[in-house]
Amino acid sequence: MGGKHTADILPPDAGGIAQAAELLRAGRLVAVPTETVYGLAARADRVEAVAAIYRAKGRPDFNPLISHLAQIEQAEALAMLDERAMRLADAFWPGPMTLVLPVREPLGVVPAVTAGLPTIALRMPSHPVMRALLQQFDFPLAAPSANRSGFISPSRPEHVLQSLGNRVDAILDGGPCVQGVESTIIALRPDGWQILRPGPITQEDVSALLGPPLQVETDTIEAPGQMTSHYAPGKPVRLHAEQARSDEFMIGFGLVAGDVTLSETGDLAEAAARLYQCLHEGAAASQPVIAVAPIPQHGLGAAINDRLRRAAA
Ligand code: TXA
Ligand code: MG
Repeated sequence: MGGKHTADILPPDAGGIAQAAELLRAGRLVAVPTETVYGLAARADRVEAVAAIYRAKGRPDFNPLISHLAQIEQAEALAMLDERAMRLADAFWPGPMTLVLPVREPLGVVPAVTAGLPTIALRMPSHPVMRALLQQFDFPLAAPSANRSGFISPSRPEHVLQSLGNRVDAILDGGPCVQGVESTIIALRPDGWQILRPGPITQEDVSALLGPPLQVETDTIEAPGQMTSHYAPGKPVRLHAEQARSDEFMIGFGLVAGDVTLSETGDLAEAAARLYQCLHEGAAASQPVIAVAPIPQHGLGAAINDRLRRAAA
């Protein structure tokens, strides 16, 4: 796909959605808006379309993709949903939650989507443009975050244009992502549940419905997105900084001021929504180092600190 022209930007109206749908139906790659981050989408039931996702991202093929759907019936056709899954789906879908569930045979997506695992990751996004798009299909869309593998995730269409602009056919413009960090990934095991990636749905939210999580050592292989280095801005990142040093671009929070701030009022939802935009600005800044103010660990802070630790690794 090397010599491709820059992606068309499609407006978030009926015409733009129809164009995106037509490209996707034909097996092409389209960057799509969700409430968390932009996704690099292709139909999940076509070998070539899914292979194109891995190629465009430079993603290792052992790292499985999330399948995105509009209807609970589609989830039931792809996976085994028990009573816990139905309770979570009722509470948090459509929304920023991904469930890792046992696959239902025969597998309804191509094997590359699950990377050969006996489980499949499913999500029903709430972004109205993405929902309108998904409602046009009877197949799921596989979509990882629309960034080159290992780099900062995209929370705005410009971010996609910068990193994958000549590797996708189009970008459906849904504006800035309101949540700003990727969905919470929850694995439902026979003996309990586990958060594989913290996100907008917090551990407390899930515990309120299912009781406390499994007490196990998290294995890193099963959610390869949990690899230590990820979301990398291409320069060193110093965390828990109270004040910028002379060579640092400072990302502030609350009372700690900066060149930019995640949230002047110390609001964690605002900080999550602004996180990747601030990291992109830090990556583009002239200073060789990025410093980030301390972020509390409660609620959404767990997801923000998880991403920051990986950006700094
Ligand atoms: O918010 C999101 O989840 C965004 C938007 C576009 O929906 N997508 C996203 O995709 O973050 P990606 O590919 O960047 O991250 C998906 C994560 C990866 O860490 C992958 O390893 C994990 O989901 N995953 C996928 N299938 C899995 C499975 N069967 N078991 C465990 N982890 C799985
Ligand atoms: Mg990602």
